[in-house]
Amino acid sequence: MKFKFHNPTEVHFGPGEFERTGELAARLGSKCLLVIGQGSVERHGYLKRAEDMLADAGVSYAVFRGIEPNPHLETCVEAARKAIGEKCDFILALGGGSVMDASKAIAAGYYDPDNLWDYVSHGQETVMPVKQALPLMVVPTLAATGSEMDAGAVITRWETREKCVLGSPLLFPQIAVIDPALTVSVPLDYTMDGVFDIAVHVMESYFNGDQDTPLQARLIEGCLLTVFAEGKKLHGDLENVKLRENVQWPSSLALSGLFTAGRGGNYPVHQMEHILSARWDISHGRGLALIMPRWMWYVLPTDPVPFASFAVNVMKVTPGGNNLRDAQAGVRELCLWLESAGLFLTLDDFGIPVGELGAAAGDCMRLYGHGKGVIGGVKPLSLEDVHAIYLMCKTPDFMR
Ligand code: NZQ
Ligand code: ZN
Repeated sequence: MKFKFHNPTEVHFGPGEFERTGELAARLGSKCLLVIGQGSVERHGYLKRAEDMLADAGVSYAVFRGIEPNPHLETCVEAARKAIGEKCDFILALGGGSVMDASKAIAAGYYDPDNLWDYVSHGQETVMPVKQALPLMVVPTLAATGSEMDAGAVITRWETREKCVLGSPLLFPQIAVIDPALTVSVPLDYTMDGVFDIAVHVMESYFNGDQDTPLQARLIEGCLLTVFAEGKKLHGDLENVKLRENVQWPSSLALSGLFTAGRGGNYPVHQMEHILSARWDISHGRGLALIMPRWMWYVLPTDPVPFASFAVNVMKVTPGGNNLRDAQAGVRELCLWLESAGLFLTLDDFGIPVGELGAAAGDCMRLYGHGKGVIGGVKPLSLEDVHAIYLMCKTPDFMR
């Protein structure tokens, strides 16, 4: 194993921690761009409370409203220009993963708003490295992406419907105020989409990473056992802060590097999903629920061992002495969990036309194939493989 583990985000976690927002923000600067989404934080009173706390702490602010789910590059550029005009010296994100991701793009875009897309890795020969970014503080209101403790942002160039990753160590939030009580207002669908997103963040490393990393494997299994069990309880008890807390911490840790240091891995399911959420503007977690079981079924004959371990250790399948059959039983159990979460889906649930999936597979190769015509993972995927997995999404009856 060889790796660098570095996570500089200072975390303040727990119900009620939101009340420290003003005092903590004052440590980052004197005026922030307070970035929010399309209204949820206003409707639930979080924006007013944040504004009051900033004022009490002597921090000036300008509010930027309207970050979309699957945040648009164009909106981030507009917000970066506002931050420049307002002479802000740090960014404060109050919202879900989309608001946090947009805030990272704004923090980098502040120094070069006209060329922001050049810093996003979208299949171009040379990706511009982020050399400067404004300090960032985040207050997540939804457990899902882990953007609060990672150095990445996923941004969609709306004009061309390309959704890709902006990453730099300079984009780690300096401070994260993670108050699970803020997430009780998240409706059922986004709650469950988020729970499954958390799971997939660690499953991608579990299946695609270095298999000879036993501690990481046990950490990931622990994360998955927690998320699937607590997520299922949350489905029927949305206002339970304790349950919200129990899925929030796995969410924050999933992409923090802690579980996956030394194991690594590829993100083929995320890459295939990003194409769908860019083209059809669907929820990221829901798109993952569509693709993940199909990808597993398609690739597991290549190396059934990690899939059999998942089946036995996470899905509690009784081992039958045949890895391939155990692995397939694990996918069936996962589909039952997805069904119980309202997430066992087909293309029709999203209105995605089958005829456009070939072009979608082409986008996936162009944006994520790194010029090699391959999507990485336990089974490297060709264009035809990606298209075949998309086509499996037509029907619930793909496990044959
Ligand atoms: O826009 P508002 O009005 O705020 O409403 C949002 C949005 O409609 C709402 N919401 C958020 N907090 C709420 C709430 N509603 C009620 N009460 C609250 N407390 O929920 C809806 C979805 O929000 P969004 O931020 O889009 O969801 P999520 O957190 O799942 O973020 C998804 C985005 O993050 C990217 C995804 O691709 C997608 O663009 N990802 C970012 C990652 C990263 N930075 O590392 C990794 C992930 O894999 C993912 O790709
Ligand atoms: Zn994700």
